[in-house]
Amino acid sequence: MIRQLRLSSGLVMLAYVTMHLLNHAVGLISLRAMDEVLRYVVGIWSNYPAQTLLYGSFLVHYGLSLWALWERRSLRLRASELSQIVLGFAIPILLARHVVGTRIASDFFHADTGHYTLLLWTFFVNAPSHGYLQMLVLVIAWAHAMIGLHFWLRVRPWYARLQSPALAVAVLVPVLSLLGMIEAGRHVAALAAADPDWTRQAFAQMTLPSPETQRALDAITKALTRLFVGVVAAVLLARLGRRIWQRRHGLVRIGYPDGRFVEVTPGTSVLESSRIAGIPHAHVCGGRGRCSTCRVRMRGEVHGIDPPGPDELRVLRRIGAPANIRLACQLRPRGPVEVTPLLPPFAQAREGRQRVGVSLGSEREIAILFADIRGFTALSEGRLPYDVVFVLNRYFSAMGRAIDAAGGRVDKFIGDGVMALFGIEGGTQAGCREALAAARLMSERLGELNFSLQAELDRPLRIGIGIHCGPVIVGEMGYGNAAAITAIGDAVNTASRLEGLTKEYDCELVVSEETVRRAGFDLSAFPHHDIEIRGKREMLTVRTLDRATNLPHPGTAPSRPTKPMKANAAV
Ligand code: FES
Repeated sequence: MIRQLRLSSGLVMLAYVTMHLLNHAVGLISLRAMDEVLRYVVGIWSNYPAQTLLYGSFLVHYGLSLWALWERRSLRLRASELSQIVLGFAIPILLARHVVGTRIASDFFHADTGHYTLLLWTFFVNAPSHGYLQMLVLVIAWAHAMIGLHFWLRVRPWYARLQSPALAVAVLVPVLSLLGMIEAGRHVAALAAADPDWTRQAFAQMTLPSPETQRALDAITKALTRLFVGVVAAVLLARLGRRIWQRRHGLVRIGYPDGRFVEVTPGTSVLESSRIAGIPHAHVCGGRGRCSTCRVRMRGEVHGIDPPGPDELRVLRRIGAPANIRLACQLRPRGPVEVTPLLPPFAQAREGRQRVGVSLGSEREIAILFADIRGFTALSEGRLPYDVVFVLNRYFSAMGRAIDAAGGRVDKFIGDGVMALFGIEGGTQAGCREALAAARLMSERLGELNFSLQAELDRPLRIGIGIHCGPVIVGEMGYGNAAAITAIGDAVNTASRLEGLTKEYDCELVVSEETVRRAGFDLSAFPHHDIEIRGKREMLTVRTLDRATNLPHPGTAPSRPTKPMKANAAV
């Protein structure tokens, strides 16, 4: 609730600031256009509901920011996080004069202060120091909003793709706004310099603040500035007092895997304690409880731990975390606790979206599919590298889409082969059905691909597919950007060998009978073979299909085989 309120109130103010800055940018066209657009902007924001929303959002956002400052036990933060806090609290202090000189002057003193001509004359002719301050606060407010927006969006899967255009917009808006202000300000200054009577004429129709009103406005500005500075100072002092008091009443010990421990005041989050001790700890969302990259496993006896709140619970459920896994940024122990960070310190948002069981490694029964292009080496001989890459990419794209459509996960492309996993989340039965559906789809897509590539290929592409199911270890393996969820185990090796057998049986699909049985398919009409598996006593029964398109759709009768055969082989 607090998080949502803070976010929504911030978004309301961002909408207001964006309109304001774009209005400034219109100064690049003309002063008149600026004032025209201002009329619309004021029309949107000057009615009672909009003003209640805007001022209410400011109060909520500011109040919650003070609360967040109080809640933090440490200000050892990344530069971007620290600057967002500092900039955020600087905005009302720096903006007080402008707000009092425009909104309060007009709403409570009936002064005509909301005109660009007057404001720009003030900023560029009468009091340039106010103009510099105004430009500074414009940049500060925008930077604060953009950092907040970045931390909010960076956990979204699509954000990485939009980051470059978003950065361009984030830079362009304030730059155009400043340029608009400067251009229009220079125009006003030139008019005022060219004609000494211009000021009198320009302001003749406006009700300007009287000297008494101006004194009252100055007093309000001073009082507001002191209030904003005082409130922040009070929270910082209160934090200091709490720290001294808590240190006298005992510290909490937080242990880490390599024997290191940190003693912190009660209520300090585990993420904060990592920062205090200089222990690298992933925290993509900056400790806002959104990304789950800070997740930790609690070890041993646990005392003095509050259960997760609704926001944390939602994230923990999303990643399938058991009870002993918590978000370090939300976990504020009041008693000793031993924790193990579960993701590397340089983890990205993508890793935060992975479910706990899968990324950490667990034994699961899944279906594994291997596919390979038959005779691709001969096919690629004498071709330009460009042609080979083109054909391969078309093939990978067609196979990848078929696997995705069937509900599988492409594990990797190896040379001209592909490995895919099915049933990681849905279980073995579903995985076996999906794997067989994928084989049929792959065969269909290959037919379409061959048709569209007939001008480029001497002969159609052929594939061999092997499918098996069984217990494997699934987890994230690899290093850096090359780390990904994959599976290892006998079942993987067997599936790979079944794919190799497609050459021997001159067929498109070799699937283990166990997979067929678990999928609930009836392939009794197709040839079967009992094969030996190295290192195992039992034979493995497999079915062979000339074309995977002969696989039945679930719930339908199987197609007839085109070439029955039976043989024994060792794999
Ligand atoms: S840092 Fe993102 S959830 Fe804890």
